[in-house]
Amino acid sequence: MSNYYNHDVLVIGSGAAGLTLALQLADTARVAVISKNEAELGSTRYAQGGIAAVLDSQDSIDAHVSDTLKAGSGLCHEDAVRFTVERSRAAITWLIEQGVGFTRDDNSTNQSSDGYHLTQEGGHSHRRIIHSADATGFAVHNTLLEQARSRDNIEVFERHAAVNLITQADSGSKKLRCSGAYVLDCQADQVALFQAKVVVLATGGASKVYLYTSNPDGASGDGIAMAWRAGCRVANMEFNQFHPTCLYHPQAKSFLITEALRGEGAHLKLPDGERFMQRFDERCELAPRDIVARAIDHEMKRLGCDHLLLDISHKSAEFIASHFPTVKARCLEFGIDITREAIPVVPAAHYTCGGVMVDHNGQTDLNNLYAIGETSFTGLHGANRMASNSLLECIVYAQSAADKIRLDLPRIKNPEQSPNWDDSRVTNSDEDVVISHNWDELRRFMWDYVGIVRTKKRLQRASHRISLLQKEIAEYYSNYKISSDLIELRNLANVAELIINSAIDRKESRGLHYSLDYPEQSDTARDTILMPTNYAAQDIIVSKF
Ligand code: FAD
Ligand code: SIN
Repeated sequence: MSNYYNHDVLVIGSGAAGLTLALQLADTARVAVISKNEAELGSTRYAQGGIAAVLDSQDSIDAHVSDTLKAGSGLCHEDAVRFTVERSRAAITWLIEQGVGFTRDDNSTNQSSDGYHLTQEGGHSHRRIIHSADATGFAVHNTLLEQARSRDNIEVFERHAAVNLITQADSGSKKLRCSGAYVLDCQADQVALFQAKVVVLATGGASKVYLYTSNPDGASGDGIAMAWRAGCRVANMEFNQFHPTCLYHPQAKSFLITEALRGEGAHLKLPDGERFMQRFDERCELAPRDIVARAIDHEMKRLGCDHLLLDISHKSAEFIASHFPTVKARCLEFGIDITREAIPVVPAAHYTCGGVMVDHNGQTDLNNLYAIGETSFTGLHGANRMASNSLLECIVYAQSAADKIRLDLPRIKNPEQSPNWDDSRVTNSDEDVVISHNWDELRRFMWDYVGIVRTKKRLQRASHRISLLQKEIAEYYSNYKISSDLIELRNLANVAELIINSAIDRKESRGLHYSLDYPEQSDTARDTILMPTNYAAQDIIVSKF
């Protein structure tokens, strides 16, 4: 079993962002893609609704930009929004060239959408979501993974979990460079050294920090935590998005009911069947997510009920079966026939709007370290991500990062070899219950105290608890052998602390951050930028981001 690997590019994460970047570079570089679970596991595969792009002749780049800015409550970086939206058509064309089968609309008279069906979601003023029925992520991920596996220059390492990034001096630069990562080979149960000229974090989001989430296992914010520990700034971590409609059923773990149902006419209802969204926003069910999730939370608390209802049963059974086969089948497994009855739903943690700060090329504060996809903060989402802008961001920034890396690679020297991982002073843990207990405690207090509605008191409670947990986890990490559960717990605790500190810093309510103590939105919009004590890039100008 090898303990040392050397590639041109190390990509940590095998979702839409990581695989797109790997494929873009496969002709010019030797690329390693590592994934801490099977390569299939990650949010990308579970994406339902689709990908937002300007494809309809009635739509425009300005309209998509303006909708995104509105949904983001004044905090989006307009340059990042325009950068992304302008590249949306090319991103979709590239996916189609790779072989992604988007749903066609053969009755469409619209030439510019090339015969593809476009659906609607919250915050969008046009139909602009291209999709593969209600399983878009599956179609995208299958295609990209199959392509990656067929390329000689891409090596995919499954069940390999990055533990820490490695940094070293970069000759001729005041900044440190990233030169690889220590990676736990979960099968061999040993830590390998992966070195590379360039390292790319594509590790997805951190929604597992909350007790109830739409995300699959693994969304533990590893990239954000590793970058932070290595000296990179992170921004806007208080903006964790709660998706308004996850299936409420004791046996249904993390199943999302896509927003496209509401886009195609589904109604949100109280337990007595009354619609209520008109009391909260004139766009009703198609208001941006922060507004819909907060309205549901408000009504659930007001009525003391544990879920509300989402009803599409007024549409024909054929329409429902052809547009939403995945949701229909999954609900039927739990005895719910969505063609005849309403679906019980609750909000759940869904998306991390903040992350590792990057520029338009995905470049972080460390030389040769990039971050793309949900793990990054590009400025696109502001205080609330608009539906289906995330997969778009994954593809667009993976492509721009790949362009920059391709240009830079010829002049990047191989890093000096770092020492092997040293576990000579740690022993096997005899009390793994510490990990599972802390994991549960953390996710519960984050849900209770740092959820959809926050107060100063709740955040202080969370702050107190996270510092105790951090101490306990640090001690455990220093004394016992590393395991995949410990890696995730340590990262979750890091990220929880970043979320809590950011939420405490924001003395207003904006987008996804709602505080009963500061209910008004301030006149000036500012990002919450957290600076690590070992900040890696003193010479970087903050306003560049
Ligand atoms: P992911 O796809 O999450 O992949 C992360 C990868 O990193 C995984 O391979 C994981 O194993 C790996 N990884 C993590 N940590 C480590 C580590 N320490 N070491 C090694 N590997 C690691 N967005 C849209 O735009 N449209 C939608 O319709 C949509 N629907 C969604 C539905 C659901 C249920 C969910 C959960 C999300 C949805 N989103 C949607 C959001 C979108 O899917 C994600 O933001 C996007 O897929 C993130 O892609 P990614 O490549 O950044 O990360
Ligand atoms: C959904 O299908 O509702 C999810 C879309 C998204 O998260 O962008």
